[in-house]
Amino acid sequence: MPRRPSVVRTMPALHRAIDQLRNRNGKVALVPTMGALHDGHLTLVRNAKRRGLKVVVSIFVNPTQFAPHEDFLSYPRTLHADLDKLATVGAELVWAPAPSVMYPEGFVSRIALDGPAIAGLEDSFRPHFFGGVATVVGKLFNQCRPDFAMFGEKDYQQLKVVSRMARDIDMRVKVVGVPTVRERDGLAMSSRNVYLSPDERRVAPILYKTMKDVAARLRAGAEVGAALAGGCAAITTAGFAIDYLEARHAETLKPVASMKDGPVRILVAAKIGRTRLIDNMKA
Ligand code: PAJ
Repeated sequence: MPRRPSVVRTMPALHRAIDQLRNRNGKVALVPTMGALHDGHLTLVRNAKRRGLKVVVSIFVNPTQFAPHEDFLSYPRTLHADLDKLATVGAELVWAPAPSVMYPEGFVSRIALDGPAIAGLEDSFRPHFFGGVATVVGKLFNQCRPDFAMFGEKDYQQLKVVSRMARDIDMRVKVVGVPTVRERDGLAMSSRNVYLSPDERRVAPILYKTMKDVAARLRAGAEVGAALAGGCAAITTAGFAIDYLEARHAETLKPVASMKDGPVRILVAAKIGRTRLIDNMKA
């Protein structure tokens, strides 16, 4: 049985454990998560291990990135299973602070964001979201002082927001983006996939399939508006309510008129039943 990572829950214990990991010039990677770990998360850890890094995984369901009507209370919390999974990929340490450790009495500060954080994608549907993410990720970076931080392309706008923030406020961390891990039928792995009923799970890969079709049409010279309209129709017909299906510049996330304005990224968010899924891919 591989060894489970140690779990620390207080700031002094975290600092002691990280100092130990850094002993003998070890470099540290942070993998921020909200737990309910799946192979997507584990791939972030594997990527860091391949770089020869010591790996700290934070597990913290961050209340400030959920709106009151969202799933903060019901978000899956599976710490024991998470630790077993992390043992199989060799993560050294888990940082699992209580909300009162992350946000002690009197906490009032936030990081203000522009650029990719106000691109009119996730921010239009979850206006509180990136403020909460940036604040907690900024705190995690300061708490753990990692040399590297691994983020999934699955949450593409988040990856761009965090990369920009780290650069803009001179955080000494290299943000690494890791390609999305998918189920065999193309559905992007997500902690929220457990909410899908068997019927919903069966139709969920339409998001991936549609993005692939849209990407192929754009590459074949189709007009952006027409390709996206066709994609929206396919997703809606399958039973999803679409929040957005967009083609954007892969770095700035600004709208593109054609592939010539690229590199282009296709991004989608849609609800099926009570579950909201997001995904994206290169065009
Ligand atoms: P969470 O949804 O738990 O995701 C943690 C990290 O895993 C993110 O960087 C996310 O992009 C990555 N990830 C999730 N599914 C993936 C997949 N199928 N393939 C590759 N990577 C995947 O994202 C968050 O948590 C939070 O917003 C957080 C950054 C931890 C701040 O609270």
